Amino acid sequence: MVALDGPSGTGKTTVARKLARRLSARYLDTGAMYRVVTLAVLRAGIDLADEHAIGALAHDVDFALGTDPERPDVRLHGEDVAAEIRGPEVTGAVSPVSAVPQVREVLVARQRRIIADAIEDDGGIVVEGRDIGTTVAPDSPLKIYLTASAEVRAARRNTQDSAAGRASSVESARESVERRDRIDSTRAASPLRAAGDAVQVDTSELTIDQVIVALAELARGRG
Ligand code: C5P
Repeated sequence: MVALDGPSGTGKTTVARKLARRLSARYLDTGAMYRVVTLAVLRAGIDLADEHAIGALAHDVDFALGTDPERPDVRLHGEDVAAEIRGPEVTGAVSPVSAVPQVREVLVARQRRIIADAIEDDGGIVVEGRDIGTTVAPDSPLKIYLTASAEVRAARRNTQDSAAGRASSVESARESVERRDRIDSTRAASPLRAAGDAVQVDTSELTIDQVIVALAELARGRG
């Protein structure tokens, strides 16, 4: 298994999917889990300050996540919500929702089950998130922590949003990225940080393909 953590805009999702393909492994996007729960919270009209209601919903919500890197489906009550969970409403609400300890408890347990199933099936799995190396799978044989400068991350997020037809500017992307980093890295429950034994890779000056080559090499070394 490969644990791939880091803040948004570091290329994590693209890198994780491509690396999973290259290693013929499964792929788990834990951010999509927090996003789908956030969408359910928004649809239920729950106040973002109501941790109790958010925690209760996280226990009951019916969602499914595909682990095929070619088709990482995301479904909420059977409905395909892969595009909606990347939209501005969910992006604006996901960090406070994922700071709720009960949400993390439910989702981390589910992530551990998916990882255990993949390992039992004798296949590998590339898992991306914020707390994989520190909390979800601290025994992972390979932990990567991707970083990039704030300028580069905002520019990448802006390009992604524009390509998906979402209104965006470098300034608004930068604000959004910095706001999420702030909440994600200061929350009490498993904050965003590199595990002590993670290999840190700064992607600011690297292409996606250069990152993949470097990580595939590391994965071959560690199994
Ligand atoms: O990776 P992505 O940008 O889709 O993640 C969305 C949000 O989900 C993050 O900003 C963070 O608040 C939360 N998250 C988390 N723990 C993870 C993955 C994502 O708290 N393992």
